[in-house]
Amino acid sequence: MVVLLIFFSIFTSLPLSSKLSVAIDTLYPAQTLTDNSNPLVSTGQAFELGFFSPFNSNNRYIGIWFKNIPIRTPIWVANKNNPISDSSGLLTITATGNIIITATNTTTNQTTAVWSSSNSSSPPPTPTPPNNPILQLLDSGNLVVKNGGGDYLWQSFDYPCDTLVPGMKLGWNLITNQEWYITSWKTLEDPSSGDFTYRLDRHGLPEILLRKGLTVEYRGGPWDGVRFCGDPQPLEQNTVFNPIFVVNSSYVYYTFENIDATTISRFVVNQTGKLMHLTWNQRRGEWIEITTLQGDACDNYATCGPNGICSISASPICYCPVGFIPRSQQDYDRFDRTGGCVRRTPLNCTSVPDGGEGFRKFSGVKLPDRSYFLVNGSGMSEVDCEAACLRNCTCVAFAQTDLSGCVVWFEDLLDIREFNGGGMDFYIRMAASDLGNGSNKNKRTAVIASVTVILGILVLGLIGWYFMRKQNAHNGGALTLDNQRPVEEDLELPLFDLVTISNATDYFSFANKIGEGGFGPVYKGVLPTGQEIAVKRLSKTSGQGLTEFKNEVILIAKLQHRNLVRLLGCCIHEEERMLAYEYMPNKSLDLFIFNQTRGTSLDWKKRFDIIVGIARGLLYLHRDSRLRVIHRDLKASNILLDNDMNPKISDFGLARSFGGDQSEENTNRVIGTYGYMSPEYAIDGHFSVKSDVFSFGVLVLEIVSGKKNRGFYHPDHDLNLLGHAWKLWNEGKSMKLVDALMESPIPTLEVLRCIQVALLCVQQRPEDRPTMSVVLLMLDSENPMMPMPKQPGFYSERFISETDSSSTPRNPYTSNDLTITKLHGR
Ligand SMILES: *[C@@H]1O[C@H](CO)[C@@H](O)[C@H](O)[C@H]1NC(C)=O
Ligand SMILES: *[C@@H]1O[C@H](CO)[C@@H](O)[C@H](O)[C@H]1NC(C)=O
Ligand SMILES: *[C@@H]1O[C@H](CO)[C@@H](O)[C@H](O)[C@H]1NC(C)=O
Ligand SMILES: *[C@@H]1O[C@H](CO)[C@@H](O)[C@H](O)[C@H]1NC(C)=O
Ligand SMILES: *[C@@H]1O[C@H](CO)[C@@H](O)[C@H](O)[C@H]1NC(C)=O
Ligand SMILES: *[C@@H]1O[C@H](CO)[C@@H](O)[C@H](O)[C@H]1NC(C)=O
Ligand SMILES: *[C@@H]1O[C@H](CO)[C@@H](O)[C@H](O)[C@H]1NC(C)=O
Ligand SMILES: *[C@@H]1O[C@H](CO)[C@@H](O)[C@H](O)[C@H]1NC(C)=O
Ligand SMILES: *[C@@H]1O[C@H](CO)[C@@H](O)[C@H](O)[C@H]1NC(C)=O
Repeated sequence: MVVLLIFFSIFTSLPLSSKLSVAIDTLYPAQTLTDNSNPLVSTGQAFELGFFSPFNSNNRYIGIWFKNIPIRTPIWVANKNNPISDSSGLLTITATGNIIITATNTTTNQTTAVWSSSNSSSPPPTPTPPNNPILQLLDSGNLVVKNGGGDYLWQSFDYPCDTLVPGMKLGWNLITNQEWYITSWKTLEDPSSGDFTYRLDRHGLPEILLRKGLTVEYRGGPWDGVRFCGDPQPLEQNTVFNPIFVVNSSYVYYTFENIDATTISRFVVNQTGKLMHLTWNQRRGEWIEITTLQGDACDNYATCGPNGICSISASPICYCPVGFIPRSQQDYDRFDRTGGCVRRTPLNCTSVPDGGEGFRKFSGVKLPDRSYFLVNGSGMSEVDCEAACLRNCTCVAFAQTDLSGCVVWFEDLLDIREFNGGGMDFYIRMAASDLGNGSNKNKRTAVIASVTVILGILVLGLIGWYFMRKQNAHNGGALTLDNQRPVEEDLELPLFDLVTISNATDYFSFANKIGEGGFGPVYKGVLPTGQEIAVKRLSKTSGQGLTEFKNEVILIAKLQHRNLVRLLGCCIHEEERMLAYEYMPNKSLDLFIFNQTRGTSLDWKKRFDIIVGIARGLLYLHRDSRLRVIHRDLKASNILLDNDMNPKISDFGLARSFGGDQSEENTNRVIGTYGYMSPEYAIDGHFSVKSDVFSFGVLVLEIVSGKKNRGFYHPDHDLNLLGHAWKLWNEGKSMKLVDALMESPIPTLEVLRCIQVALLCVQQRPEDRPTMSVVLLMLDSENPMMPMPKQPGFYSERFISETDSSSTPRNPYTSNDLTITKLHGR
C-alpha cells in the first residue's frame, strides 16, 4: 500500500493543479492534496478542506472549516490524534474509496500513513462494491466518498469531532448500532480527544449527557417534543436555529437546522466542557454565544443530591419535595444539600387501591435521571401508567410522556430541577400519610377549597383594581413608587425606558453579558451619549417586588461616595426591573487578587489603597450616610475597580431590599457568602455593623495573601485562611502570609499593621471587633495603639462551609462564590 502511495504521489504531482481547477470540490483517485496546494472548496463556497495548524501550534492537520470566516474555525479534523510535524502531508483517495493521509520523513524518505478513512469506519458499511469513487466536499461541510452510483461509501458527518453543524447528528442509528457523539479538543492547540464528551444515552428516556471521563457533569433532560426539558432558553427567543429530535425504530438523534439559510451557526463542546451554540456575527466579526446550557448552579448534575429538587429561584436553591425530609438536618442547616432527601414515611408496599400508597404530582420539572421504559408502555394512558407503577413495589415514580409513553423510576431520583414555565409533569409515590390533601382522595375538598380561594382572590383583586384606578387617576397615571408621589419627583434619578436600555445592551445579547449576580444577570451597555453602563436586570423570580425595588432604588440613589458604585438610573417596564450603574472597566477585585497573572499587577501600594478605599466606603455606609446601611454581603467579587483601580463597593442595596427592616437585630433571612459571614450572623441570624467588619477583615486577609478564605488549603493543617493567619500571627511569622506575587520591597510595618487590623476585625465576639472608624484610624496612622487580637471566629474551614460545591467559576461578578440566602425556620 505504501509503495502504491508513493507511486501515486510521484506520478500525480504534475497534473494535479490543472485537474483541481476543473472541479474545485472534488478529488479523483490518483490526485493528491498537498500542504501547498489550494484547499478543496465546496461548490457553494461555504466550506474548505485543507491543511492547517491550530492556534499556537506548528503541527499540521487536515480539516474542514468555514470558508468565509476570517477566524479559522475547524468543524472537523481528520488526523486529530496523529499530527504531521512538517509540510510533507499528502491526502489522496484510493481506487477502492479509501481516503489516506500520509507523511514523509524528509531525512529517511520513508512515507507512513497517519490516518485512513477505512480505520474510522468501525462497522464497515460497504454494501455496494466501490465503483470509481471520488472524494467530494459538500456545501454542508460534509466530506464524502461518493460511489459511481451516487451513494456514499464514507462521510465525515459520521465521525464528528467537537462540533455539530446543520445536518450532523448526535445519537444513534439503531439498525447499524452506530453512534454519533462529540468530543472536546484537548486544548486550543491540540485537537486530539479531550476529557469531555456529549453523548445521547438511549437507556430510558433519550437524553444527552455531558461527561468528563465517566462522570456525568450535565444532562439536558429528556426531550419533550419541542426541546430538551433542561434547556433553559425559551424557544421563542431562539431565532437562529431549530432543534430537531428524531425518535423512531431506526434512529434516535438530535440535530438542528438554521432558521435562515444565510446564518452560520455551530454547536460545540469546548476544551473546558462548555456546551455552546454559537452564531457568526458578520458585523462584529466574531462568534456570538446564543445559548448556554450550563447556565446556573442547578445545571450541575445532581446538585441537590438524591430526591432533592433544585430551583434557581428558591433560596437556598435546594429543597426536599413534599413528603421528603433532609437526609441529615444538621448538614442541611449548614448549607450542605448534597446529602439529599429521604422519605418521611418509608414505602412498605402495602398498597391497597383505596387508602394505601399513592402518587403526588410535581409539575414543570426536569425529569430525574435513570428512567426506564415500561415494557409495552407506549400507548398507555396515564391511569394505566400509574397502576402499573403501583403494582411494582420497587417503582418510586412515573411520568407519562407524549413521545415515549409510560416511563418509571426505580432508584433514588437524581437531578430534578424545577422550572418557572416549561418542564414536564411527574408523579412520586408516597405513603398514604404523606399524600395529604393534595392526593386524589380528597379531590372534593380540594375543589371546594380552591373555588373558595379563587373567589376570594377575585374579590380582593376587584377591590385592589378599584383602588388602583382611583389612585392612578389621582396621579395622572404616572408610575408611582412611594405611595403617592410619582417617581421622578422623589428620586431625581433618570428613568430609562426599555428601548434605550435594550439598544444600549444590544438587546441583552449574550456577548454583552458580563456577569450574573445573586439576583439576575448584569449586562454592559453603551448609551447613545457614549457613556458606558452596567445594567443589572433583576430576575423576575428574584422575589423582589415593586416595594423592594423601590427601596433599593431610593436607598442607592441617596448613597453617594467615591468608594461606592454609582447608580445612574433605573428602568421599570411592566414586570421588568433594571438598575443602570456606572460601568467599571476593571471588573471586580477577585479577578485580580486570586489570579496568578493579574495578581502581579497589584503591588502593595495599590493593595493598601484598595483596603483603605473599601474601609472608607464601608464607614460611609455604616455611619455617615443618612441611612446607616449594613452591607451584609461584602466580598471580593462585590468590590469593583475603576480605571485607576480605585475600589467601589457594589450590591449594597440588596441587603436592605432582600433582608427586610435593617433596624431589626435579628433576621430570618440570612444573606451572605460562605467564607465572609461572621459566626453570629451565619448561625443565629444576628447582624450588626460588626458582621460587616468581620467580612472586611476576611477581605483584608485575602488581599494581603492573595488566597481565598473559602477553599483555603494548607498541607499542614485544617485551618482556613483566618486560622492560618492567626497561627502565623501567634508564631510571629505573619509576613509568611503575604502574597508571593507582590513585588518587593514590601513595607513590613504597614503589612503587619493591616494583618493585625484584619485579625481584630475577625474576632469571634462582635463586641471585641473595632468599628470601621477605628479601623480607618488604625490604618491611617503610622504608630497606632492597637489591642492584641483574640481568636478569630470560624477559623476552621470544616466548621461550617466545606460543603457547598455547587458553584463553579462562570462570570466576572460573582466568580467563585454564590451569594446565598438562607431562610431560617423559626
Ligand atoms: C525522521 O526519521 C528519523 C530517523 O528515524 C527520526 O530521527 C526523525 O525524528 C524523523 N523526522 C520526523 C520529522 O519524523
Ligand atoms: C530521497 O528522495 C529524493 C528524491 O526522491 C532523493 O533525491 C534523495 O536522495 C532521497 N534521500 C534518501 C536519503 O534516500
Ligand atoms: C489503523 O488501525 C490499526 C489498528 O487499530 C492501527 O494499527 C493502524 O496504525 C491504524 N492506521 C492508521 C493510518 O491510523
Ligand atoms: C425515522 O426518521 C428518519 C428521519 O426523519 C426518516 O428518514 C426515517 O425514514 C424514519 N424511519 C422510520 C422507520 O420511520
Ligand atoms: C470555553 O467556554 C467558556 C465559556 O464561554 C470560556 O470561558 C472558555 O474560555 C472556553 N475555553 C476555551 C479553551 O476556549
Ligand atoms: C405500612 O405503612 C403504613 C403507613 O405508612 C402502616 O399503617 C402500615 O402498618 C405499614 N405496614 C407494614 C406491613 O409495615
Ligand atoms: C405487548 O403488547 C403486545 C400487543 O398488545 C402483546 O402481544 C405482548 O404480549 C405484550 N408484551 C408484554 C411483555 O406485555
Ligand atoms: C419491578 O420492576 C423491576 C425492574 O423492571 C423488575 O425487575 C421486577 O421484576 C418488577 N417487579 C414486579 C413485581 O413486577
Ligand atoms: C387538609 O389539610 C388541612 C390542614 O393540613 C386540614 O385541616 C384538613 O382537615 C385536611 N382535609 C382533609 C380532608 O384531610
